[in-house]
Amino acid sequence: MYKISLMDPSDLEASYDIEKRTNPSPWSKENFFSSFEVGHKSLVCKLKKRIVGFVIYSNFKKESHLLSIAVDKDLQRKGAGSLLLKSMISQSKALGAKKILLEVRMKNKSAIAFYNNFKFVEDAVRVGYYTGSDPDDALLMSLDI
Ligand SMILES: CC(C)(COP(=O)(O)OP(=O)(O)OC[C@H]1O[C@@H](n2cnc3c(N)ncnc32)[C@H](O)[C@@H]1OP(=O)(O)O)[C@@H](O)C(=O)NCCC(=O)NCCS
Repeated sequence: MYKISLMDPSDLEASYDIEKRTNPSPWSKENFFSSFEVGHKSLVCKLKKRIVGFVIYSNFKKESHLLSIAVDKDLQRKGAGSLLLKSMISQSKALGAKKILLEVRMKNKSAIAFYNNFKFVEDAVRVGYYTGSDPDDALLMSLDI
């Protein structure tokens, strides 16, 4: 059975391993590990003692911004991502948020399908948003909560 909890600093290493395995352009280790210091909020999903996924977001007044969400490859499509996103949404509501915002790579069709399943709407495309070795446009999506 999955269990959602606040990310503890001791969860960072295992969570960053998932980030590297699942994100074609992962956050730098420095950015990932400094997430707590800059005030981001984060949750992990555990299966027994194993961390199988995480979500990182920021909240400012009535908006929460989904910054990163990932589930380890062997456990994708088994509900952990939905559980993380639902938990992030309910925490955001408790913080007073009325909207969730995110950017996703246009090429990331599975993540777009995941957000569509949650009834996120497509607001805009930011051309050339992702640079570097795997350039892409960003799809901006939002959900009223
Ligand atoms: C996106 C991600 C977090 C989803 O987590 P997950 O645990 O695999 O998703 P769930 O099992 O909760 O899926 C819920 C629903 O989303 C949709 N969905 C999820 N993955 C999908 C895929 N690959 N193709 C089509 N639809 C998909 C389906 O509607 C699914 O319901 P169903 O399985 O009953 O059909 C996960 O695939 C992941 O870690 N991807 C790599 C990292 C990433 O791209 N993060 C997003 C960056 S913006």
